Amino acid sequence: MTLKDVALKIRPMAYAPYSGFKVGAAILSKGGKAFAGVNVENVAYPEGTCAEAGAIAAMVAAGETEIIEAYVVADCPSPVPPCGGCRQKLSEFAGPDVVITLATTDGQEQTYKMSDLLPGVFTLRHMENVK
Ligand code: THU
Repeated sequence: MTLKDVALKIRPMAYAPYSGFKVGAAILSKGGKAFAGVNVENVAYPEGTCAEAGAIAAMVAAGETEIIEAYVVADCPSPVPPCGGCRQKLSEFAGPDVVITLATTDGQEQTYKMSDLLPGVFTLRHMENVK
């Protein structure tokens, strides 16, 4: 299965009773495994946890910390943009040249490098003056 297949297959499993907006994410780890995630909302925090965060959590729980490719899909008029927080979360595990594909369920796709999705990313380097 391609990352696209994984993300499309998992998307209907999203728990999104507040927004109704279901998102599927799939990431490929350096170890060659695909990990899937969906958004999970809750009544106290209706924005919930994003699909990308779910896929990252699955990867980390499996002992991996490097993303080499990612795919995110939702039913929207143009390819779904990851929220700001997800861009930072992805960049924790994805280098600047990692390709992230954003997609719609009807087949539109846009590909970006991680560094294009989050220019000027905050990194550990910015804290190096801390004593
Ligand atoms: N959402 C994601 O899961 N990923 C994105 O990239 C954009 C937004 C979710 C969060 C929330 O459950 C719903 O979409 C509406 O914001």
